[in-house]
Amino acid sequence: MSTTPSDGPTVATPGAPASSPAPVTPVTPAEDPSLWIPEQLRDDVDRILIPEAAIAARLDALAAEVDRDYAGRESDLLLVGVLRGAVFTLSDLARRLTIPSAIDFMACSSYGSSTTSSGVVRILKDLDTEIEGRDVLLVEDIVDTGLTLDYLIKNLRSRHPASVEVLSLLTKPSRREVELPVRYVGFEVPDVFVVGYGLDFAERYRGIPHIVSLRPGTGV
Ligand code: IMP
Repeated sequence: MSTTPSDGPTVATPGAPASSPAPVTPVTPAEDPSLWIPEQLRDDVDRILIPEAAIAARLDALAAEVDRDYAGRESDLLLVGVLRGAVFTLSDLARRLTIPSAIDFMACSSYGSSTTSSGVVRILKDLDTEIEGRDVLLVEDIVDTGLTLDYLIKNLRSRHPASVEVLSLLTKPSRREVELPVRYVGFEVPDVFVVGYGLDFAERYRGIPHIVSLRPGTGV
């Protein structure tokens, strides 16, 4: 299950995974200049924890699992992206699925410019789709304390969908405050603030194609 050094990301394998990617060892941008980072953001990056190729490989495996698990269902799977961080994961997942799927989005209050959870969850944008009787797959960028997801799962279940499952690209298990049924997990990351591939700090860094940590003093 754990495949990398303790300070690096590991692959979490809930259920019966289709595959596990090779171990990922964190590197600095200088150690692997082939890992592209926009020039103006490069100096802010401490370590590259998960390069884009590893993300792509893991999404291949997760999409295959989702395809297998939802094959032959009555209605099309509804992918619900939690704005804004999950947009990259949702779009890359949706492009890999071979089963019919639809997409919708929710937004809820999360971190502002701070890096600690307030624990207060407020829905800022609700679904446009009626989910009664539908299979719903909530797509998240990262599960940290789990408070946001806990609220969202309960909220969606109250609408009587056929099922609600969760796919999260990242998880920080050491930070969890509530037990959560996360069916599909990409990578476990240590307790460091990460950005890139949709995740931000004060709305910056979302476009970095890898999951990276920031240099101490770079606003965090
Ligand atoms: P939770 O409610 O504590 O699980 O927080 C979930 C949300 O917090 C995520 O969807 C992210 O928007 C944000 N978040 C938590 N950890 C990080 C991080 O390391 N980097 C960027 N955003 C994070």
